[in-house]
Amino acid sequence: MEEIKSPPGVFDILPDEKSDLWRNAHFWHYVEGVIRRMAKLYGFHEIRTPLFEKTELFKRSVGEGTDIVSKEMYTFQDKGDRSLTLRPEGTAPVIRAFIEHQLAQQAPLHKLYYIAPMFRYERSQAGRYRQHHQFGVEIIGSSAPEQDAEMIDLAYSICSFLGLKNLSVVINSIGTAESRQTYRAALKDFLKSQFEQLSPDSKGRFETNPLRILDSKDPRDKEVIAKAPSILNFLDEESEAHFEIVKQCLDALEIPYQVNPFLVRGLDYYNKTVFEITSGELGAQNSIAGGGRYDGLIKSLGGPDLPSTGFAMGIERILQTMIGQNISIPPSSKSLLFLIPMGEEACKVCYKIQHDLRSQGLSVQMDYSGKKLNKAMQYANQLGVTFVAVVGDQELQSQEVELKNMATGEKLKAPLLHLGRILLVDAQSDQFLQLWNTLSKPFEDPAQTEFFLSKLSHNIKQTQHLTSSIQKAMLDILRLVQNENVD
Ligand code: HAM
Repeated sequence: MEEIKSPPGVFDILPDEKSDLWRNAHFWHYVEGVIRRMAKLYGFHEIRTPLFEKTELFKRSVGEGTDIVSKEMYTFQDKGDRSLTLRPEGTAPVIRAFIEHQLAQQAPLHKLYYIAPMFRYERSQAGRYRQHHQFGVEIIGSSAPEQDAEMIDLAYSICSFLGLKNLSVVINSIGTAESRQTYRAALKDFLKSQFEQLSPDSKGRFETNPLRILDSKDPRDKEVIAKAPSILNFLDEESEAHFEIVKQCLDALEIPYQVNPFLVRGLDYYNKTVFEITSGELGAQNSIAGGGRYDGLIKSLGGPDLPSTGFAMGIERILQTMIGQNISIPPSSKSLLFLIPMGEEACKVCYKIQHDLRSQGLSVQMDYSGKKLNKAMQYANQLGVTFVAVVGDQELQSQEVELKNMATGEKLKAPLLHLGRILLVDAQSDQFLQLWNTLSKPFEDPAQTEFFLSKLSHNIKQTQHLTSSIQKAMLDILRLVQNENVD
C-alpha cells in the first residue's frame, strides 16, 4: 500500500532526531524551558486559546489587506456552516479571550504569554513553514514607553541567554493612525513618480497597502525605497516623545539597536513602536522575533480602550540559529537505573521495585524481553542510564544487588530494600554539585563576595535552626512512642 507522508510545509519533532537537530524534542524542551523561566522572571502568566477562531476575528484585527489574511489563512466551513480559521498568529485570539472573559475588570495590567503553533499557507522553504511555533507575549493596560523597551529586553535577553550571536535589533515608530495617514499620502506621491520601477507585487500594493512596499525584499523595490520619505519625519509629538524614551531605555539596558524608518511590519494593528530581531544566520527568512504597540486593537474588537504592546518569536528559527551557530545545549537527563531481571521470580520482584522507585520520583526502567545479559547491557548503554542492576536468584536470596555505574564501571553493593534511598542520594548529589559549581565561581567584586558570604552564613544559621527543630520534633515523637509502650 502507498505510504502516506506529511503534507508540505510541516514537520515532525522526534525524540532522538540526529540528522536535523532542530527537530530533536530535547532541543525544543530546552528552549521552551528557558522561555518559560524568563517569561516568569518578567512577570508573565500563560494564556492558552483554541487552535481555531471565527475567520472574522483575523479579518478585523490583522487586516484584510495583509498577506496573512488575503493569501495565507487556513479557512474552512464547519458542519454548522461557520467560517473558521486556524490561527495564523496569537495576538488576535488573546485579545478576543481578554475581552470575552472581561479580564480588564480583574487587574489594571495584564502580562500574558503563549507558546503555540500557528498556521499560514506560505510558500514553504527553509525557515518558513505552514505550521510554525511562536512564543508570544501581550501586555495589556500600559501605555508606558518603558513597557515597549521591557518587552524588547525580554526578547533580546532570551536570545542572549540561549547564546545566539550576530543578532540585530531594529526598531521604528510608525506613529498614530492619523500621522500615518499623512505619511501614506506623502509616500504614495513619491511612489507614483517611481511606479514603473516597482516590482509587480508592489505595484499591486500601491493602492491597497503602500506601506508594505517599504519592507519588500525585491531589489527593484529596495532601490526605490532607499529614496522614499522617512516616516519618522511625519510623527506626531506624542509618538516622537514616546519613541525617544524607548530608545533611552534600550540605551540604559545596553541593548544594541538600529533605527530603520522603513520597518513597518506586515500586520495592520500596530502603532507607535515596532521592532524586529534578525539573525544573519537564517538567510531570507531572517526574522527571529517581531512585534510592537497596538493601542487601538482592543477597542476596535469591541473591548475597552486599553493600550497594548507585544511580540512573538519563531521557535523554529531560534533553534535553527542555535544549530547554525554550533551552540551547545545541556544533555537531556536519562533514566537513573536499568533493572535486568534473570528469571521469572526476579522479574516479578523487579516489576514491583520499579514501580516503588518511580513513586519516589526516580526514573527507572527494566528489561521485559528476557534478552541475554550482554544484549540487555548493550541496550542499557544505549539508553544512557547511570546505573544497571542485575537481579537473579542469588540477589533475591541475599537481598543485595550490585549497582554498576555505567560511566565509571564502579560497582556499589546496595540492599534491595533501600535502593531508593541510595539512588536518591546520588540524584541529589548531582544537584549539589551543580549548585556548588555555580556558587564556587570566584566573584570579581569584593563587595559581591562579602554580600554572598553574609547571605550564606544567614542561610546556614536558618538550616541549623531547621535541623535542630526537626531533631527536637523527632525526639519528642520517640519519647511519646516509648511512653505509650511503657503504658
Ligand atoms: P510575525 O512577525 O508575523 O508577528 O511573526 C512572529 C515571528 O514568527 C516571526 O518573527 C518569525 O520568527 C515567526 N514566523 C512567522 N511566520 C513564520 C513561518 N511561516 N514559519 C516559521 N516562522 C514564522 C506576529 O505573528 C505578531 N502576532 C507578533 C505580535 C505579538 N505582535 C504583537 N504581539
